[in-house]
Amino acid sequence: MAQIQWFPGHMAKARNQVQEKLKLVDLVLEIVDSRVPEASRNPMMNQIVGQKPRIMVLNKKDLADPQKTAEWLAYYRKQGYEAIAIDAQHARRLQQIPQLARQMMKAKLEKQKSRGIRNPGLRAMCIGIPNVGKSTVLNRLVKKNIAVTGNRPGVTKNQQWLTADDTFQVLDTPGILWPKFEDESVGNKLALTGAIADTVYQADTVGLFGLTFFQQGYPQALRKAYGLNDDDMAQKPADLMIALSQKWGYGEEYNRAAERVIFDARQGKFGPFTLEVPGDLDGHAE
Ligand code: G4P
Repeated sequence: MAQIQWFPGHMAKARNQVQEKLKLVDLVLEIVDSRVPEASRNPMMNQIVGQKPRIMVLNKKDLADPQKTAEWLAYYRKQGYEAIAIDAQHARRLQQIPQLARQMMKAKLEKQKSRGIRNPGLRAMCIGIPNVGKSTVLNRLVKKNIAVTGNRPGVTKNQQWLTADDTFQVLDTPGILWPKFEDESVGNKLALTGAIADTVYQADTVGLFGLTFFQQGYPQALRKAYGLNDDDMAQKPADLMIALSQKWGYGEEYNRAAERVIFDARQGKFGPFTLEVPGDLDGHAE
């Protein structure tokens, strides 16, 4: 898998941009893709964000396996974060996020009230790798689609803040935090879910990865989607890919069959799915 987007210079720049803006916010909304919650994180996120209170926002829950999403939510809560699963694309408003933030920051808000601030507000920053849905989340969070200029103490002039409600403001994502294709499986997962551009990966590798995954993890869904019988399902993934290629009239152009598997996975032809579970992380935790 190409390592093209991971340049130390890019990372350092993005990291500085994020850390500079972190000073301005009370909490961080880290957006990830529910189908690949870990693969879709920047691996330096914990170092970058540090101790700043964080809500793990598992977006695109409509595309993910609900049981596995529940496992991930429990996992992140155990790690000390707040966690919520959402479908930003189909939600009208995302009031749950400000509500959860206020609940998480209750102690701070109470303290401010006791100091005479009548309606204390919270400021958040939305971060995540490209394509996890940050813009969609922001759009669903803001009340009016206007950017307000902060002129309160501690807020840099001309800083763009989006108003979610009277007491919740969100800062647009600063800098781009790329994922790192540290191992091939991370690249395969990101490619299969459409997080990385088609030019970056080899369709035959990713398609075979997908077919193997669905054959093992969601056999009924695969069987139904492609009208497969027991004999088909008993084949090794590579042989099944060859058989599918022939069935679809692509002959020996196996990459076309692989591309079709990728397309179908992204379109939801196999139903909702999740490519990783917290147990996969054993021994790999940050
Ligand atoms: P980014 O700012 O983090 O880069 O992501 P962005 O909001 O642009 O979202 C990336 C893609 O993911 C978009 O699709 C968006 O519609 C989709 N998306 C965001 N949230 C959700 C969700 O909760 N569920 C589903 N199913 N999709 C979501 P796109 O193909 O790039 O554009 P389009 O198809 O919306 O035109």
